[in-house]
Amino acid sequence: MKIIGISGSPREGASEFLLKKALSELEKEESFETKFITVRDRNINPCTHCDNCVETKGKCSIDDDMNEIYSLLKESDGIILASPIHFGSISAQLKAIIDRCQALIMEDLDIFKNKVGISIVVGGDRTGGQELAIQQINTFYLLNKIIPLSGGAFGANLGACLWSQDGGAEGVKKDEYGLKTLDMTINNFKEFLLEFKC
Ligand SMILES: Cc1cc2nc3c(=O)[nH]c(=O)nc-3n(C[C@H](O)[C@H](O)[C@H](O)COP(=O)(O)O)c2cc1C
Repeated sequence: MKIIGISGSPREGASEFLLKKALSELEKEESFETKFITVRDRNINPCTHCDNCVETKGKCSIDDDMNEIYSLLKESDGIILASPIHFGSISAQLKAIIDRCQALIMEDLDIFKNKVGISIVVGGDRTGGQELAIQQINTFYLLNKIIPLSGGAFGANLGACLWSQDGGAEGVKKDEYGLKTLDMTINNFKEFLLEFKC
């Protein structure tokens, strides 16, 4: 099974660290092949609502690094979106990727159907908007028939919610509770994919 993980942070910080940790956990199972993508070194522009994708059934008029991400998203069985919290929600960079998916959806309204998705979010504050950010990612999943998963009750109700205390990767390593939410979410994702998609 192919898993694409996208970090929406503009820097090499907590989100990238957490996403890489999640992907390396999945790589322990031979059933998973993972691909790590970060917005940090890529040129991804926001959607301009030119409607070219609507008129051509899927051709985006913007020629940038989204082309590579389109292919990876299409062939994936599972999607992990990771984001820092920027003013109470996901980063603008991750939102640009989500919006640009309009082109894929115009190619085929069922393009994402039955893929499985989880979220990893990290704020500088313990309660800085992590749950709202996950709801935003889950809205994208729900709208597009992606099955959204969390880590379950008693710990990871909506997914992986972490707190970096604005200390980047080193800061988030101290968030023992948050790291547990990541473990629970990855385990649930792994179990679900192995049970229903193998
Ligand atoms: C523009 C901006 C806005 C931010 N807004 C919030 C916020 O609303 N809530 C919060 O908890 N942290 C906020 N932060 C802090 C980051 O979410 C936090 O440092 C996070 O761990 C960064 O992740 P990264 O290292 O992966 O980039 C903000 C940071 C930036 C740059």
